[in-house]
Amino acid sequence: MHVLIINGSPRVKQHSNTDKILESFTQGIKENGSTYEQYEISDKKQWEDIRKAYYSNSNILIALPLYVECVPGLLMEFLETLSPKGDGTRIAYILQSGFAEGIQLRCGEAYLEKLTGYLGCEYAGTLVKGDNFSIRFFEGEMRDRVTGPYKEMGREYAANAGFNTDKCKAFTGYEILPLHLRIMLRIIQRTVARTMFAKVARSWGCTRPLGYRPYQ
Ligand SMILES: Cc1cc2nc3c(=O)[nH]c(=O)nc-3n(C[C@H](O)[C@H](O)[C@H](O)COP(=O)(O)O)c2cc1C
Repeated sequence: MHVLIINGSPRVKQHSNTDKILESFTQGIKENGSTYEQYEISDKKQWEDIRKAYYSNSNILIALPLYVECVPGLLMEFLETLSPKGDGTRIAYILQSGFAEGIQLRCGEAYLEKLTGYLGCEYAGTLVKGDNFSIRFFEGEMRDRVTGPYKEMGREYAANAGFNTDKCKAFTGYEILPLHLRIMLRIIQRTVARTMFAKVARSWGCTRPLGYRPYQ
């Protein structure tokens, strides 16, 4: 199987969490001999090539981050330039986000199924997963811990030409975090995470505290 992969994030490739997820995911795809070509929506110079690839490929995977509960505006702008195909082309999606609970991605997921119909294509399922805010802050082993599991999902996708399997559905994890995890997260946010984000901000040249409110 050959797959056209579109990274739908407006963030440039270097800083895109979606790109780091795809790095791991595509390792899984390659294992069964499948091939892929990947494009970035963030680079408008690629749009003409992406359009050509959309019309000439029959397996398409759009990987996108949740931005304000749904599809990033730049990706929508691109999608609006496409015409419906009606030739049995299959589109699958990786929908990933910052917040961890599966429930907050379900509205976006429902839209993606409709979108596939608007494009005259067959829906091949959506891999839904949150808790990805920090990928770009991590390196090495810490990053691998978050992105590594997507390799197995790449294998699943290649074997089933989509995400409609129990394994892919279970990949989401918690729909709503149980109370004890919410309490633990609150503590982590106020301690370890606060220190970590302050450190990242300093390394990016921030000279004021993160809670600085100049207009108050
Ligand atoms: C403008 C903006 C809006 C976002 N909106 C949401 C949101 O509604 N829900 C959520 O869980 N994460 C949200 N996020 C977090 C991103 O989905 C998350 O960090 C994702 O991994 C970013 O992927 P990318 O780096 O490839 O763009 C938002 C991030 C940005 C920058």
